[in-house]
Amino acid sequence: MKNSKFHPANDVPLAPEGRESIVDLIERGENPRRTFLKGSAATSMSMLLAGGLGSMPGRANAYMPSTSPMGGLGFSSVPADTAPVTDAVIVPPGYTATVLIAWGDPVVNGAPQYNPNLYNPSADQERQYGMHVDGMHFFPFTTRGRPSSDRGLLVVNHEYVDPLLLWNTTSAPPSPISLEFARTAQAGHGVSVIEVVRSGGTWSVVRPSVYNRRITGNTPCRISGPAAGDALMRTAADPTGTQVLGTLNNCAHGFTPWGTYLTCEENWNGYFGCSLPVGVPAAQAGSDPNLVPIVGTSGPTLGLVTGYQGNVATATGRGYRRYGVSNAGFGYRWHEADPRFDITANPNEPHRFGWVVEIDPFDRNSVPVKRTALGRIKHESAMHVVGPDNTLAIYTGDDERNDYLYKFVASAKYNPAVRSANRDLLDTGTLYVARFNADGTGTWLPLVWGQNGLTAVNGFANQAEVLIKTRQAADRVGATMMDRPEWIAAHPVTREMYLTLTNNSRRGSNPASSNAVDGSTSGGGARPPVDAANPRSNNIYGHIIRWREANDDPGALTFEWDIFVRAGDKLNANANLKGDINGDDFGAPDGLWFDGDGRLWIQTDQQGDAAGDWVNIGANSMLAADPSTREVRRFLTSPPNCEVTGVVGTPDGRTMFVGIQHPGEDWSGSFTSKSGWPDNGANGTTTLSGQAPVKPRSATVVITRIGGGKIGAA
Ligand code: FEO
Ligand code: CA
Ligand code: CA
Repeated sequence: MKNSKFHPANDVPLAPEGRESIVDLIERGENPRRTFLKGSAATSMSMLLAGGLGSMPGRANAYMPSTSPMGGLGFSSVPADTAPVTDAVIVPPGYTATVLIAWGDPVVNGAPQYNPNLYNPSADQERQYGMHVDGMHFFPFTTRGRPSSDRGLLVVNHEYVDPLLLWNTTSAPPSPISLEFARTAQAGHGVSVIEVVRSGGTWSVVRPSVYNRRITGNTPCRISGPAAGDALMRTAADPTGTQVLGTLNNCAHGFTPWGTYLTCEENWNGYFGCSLPVGVPAAQAGSDPNLVPIVGTSGPTLGLVTGYQGNVATATGRGYRRYGVSNAGFGYRWHEADPRFDITANPNEPHRFGWVVEIDPFDRNSVPVKRTALGRIKHESAMHVVGPDNTLAIYTGDDERNDYLYKFVASAKYNPAVRSANRDLLDTGTLYVARFNADGTGTWLPLVWGQNGLTAVNGFANQAEVLIKTRQAADRVGATMMDRPEWIAAHPVTREMYLTLTNNSRRGSNPASSNAVDGSTSGGGARPPVDAANPRSNNIYGHIIRWREANDDPGALTFEWDIFVRAGDKLNANANLKGDINGDDFGAPDGLWFDGDGRLWIQTDQQGDAAGDWVNIGANSMLAADPSTREVRRFLTSPPNCEVTGVVGTPDGRTMFVGIQHPGEDWSGSFTSKSGWPDNGANGTTTLSGQAPVKPRSATVVITRIGGGKIGAA
């Protein structure tokens, strides 16, 4: 285990150019926060003198004071990639972007190379790089007592799969699918742990490595925390309610200061289905009487949808409706072959997904742990902050229209001296949900059994049920419905928090409605009016909100917030859609990350075809922002119909890893009808170089500066 020198908060850099870095200050025992603020005071002060800052947050056209990054935004803006979208990752002059690893490449020692012309069986996919990459983190090795920027573990989520690409067929297979097909799809999900090294200026995956590992939709995981063992967590295969196979829909992520990785289970509901015919209420089929017809749940369902209703206190009151569990799921069809995903056969199995899962990447035999104290939602991001007294908070969003922002505060303090003392730190603490008040203040509302109506009479038999039905609990206490919370970023020094709110097509539409206090609203089903924190109706382009805890204390019960930026298209004739970006336009912000110098990196997730609402904004992009001046500059554009998601840097700030997910999605006829990336060679060689692209592949890209230097800095 090599984590003893892992830095305490974020990927704070060493100082390669003779300048003292945040790590140096920490190691010298200085208060890095004070020094950092002093170092960036010039920009902040000029903004204050300009009259743009310092007033109450939350007011129109007033912004919280913040800090400019060390090194500024020192690159030339990349032009918007408008139609026709270039089938390449494009970075500024002076930078290179090359493919490190792509879907199907070997991970586990001895794994075969993926063959794009064939069906690659589940036994191969279980050992190969998973499909659609998402959040990731770099865990540096320690070299001479300091975190290395040349060698470490890259831990990468695989959010979901394109089943037909995986199954090597351009048309849907007949029903039922084979168990082998379900297994291949499950194997394409989860997490990859890969050892990476820089040698001669080039990064590569170390093969073999004692660390390389795949965690899939079938890897045994332990369930811990207050919901472990609860009656709602038990299944025929696991009567203890403490063991579950796999983690699914691993979207954004987090990591801990003790060197573990957190993978977040997002749209897990879509993997479940029901063997009952569409349109037949389960009660008529002699099944559970609580299974009643529901119309209009989210997801691509056909006709009448069956599902469990609402939030009742009995063991059969599962709240499927609030989480969007339906008979058809999202079309993965696993329930046709694998009864674990058939909600009729295994009605409690959905309760075992929707958690944050902790993984020790340095021990490939370690069992991933689902930490139920952090709540069961469609988790997106699990960003931690440690206060000066070692109070640990983890912020996590629930990515659904009109769902909520949460904060978990551990009961015990983080112990920086003894790694093992933190082993179960995430099992005990308080989960809060955010209420954003119109005056620019906010409140953290505790989700604690027995308080604020979270009682048996309202459907919560105990704290386990509060956590299993986190959404319904948050409905009960009056949280603020948000425009799809995605990633959360913490400033590495000031602990100021930023959250992407990617979009909300149902905000401000008629007739207005809210998530019902009894938890009976379907997932994404409400149509809330605009409010101060979500100020635009039909919020196509999204926004980024930020907050500071009272006294900068991660355990605080109140905070102040403002809207950092309303994304948009300045050329759009509709004033509601122009946004207020100071710089390059973007929309649908999703990935969000602070580098060690305080640059805020923004990644986008829109259609990616530069059509319709995106004709001026173009393809998906990654941009850097200055938190003080609010300047936004486009750093990267991406292949057609992909999403840019996943970003992390080495401690020295000179290497950045970026994820390109689902290039060429929505192909028709031919797999490569929209993209042949990355095997088209646009960003260097791949494991399939030398042959024409057969399928687009999600991949992880390495970005460096020609001649060296920090990414994004002057
Ligand atoms: Fe998987 Fe919310 O993006
Ligand atoms: Ca996302
Ligand atoms: Ca997204």
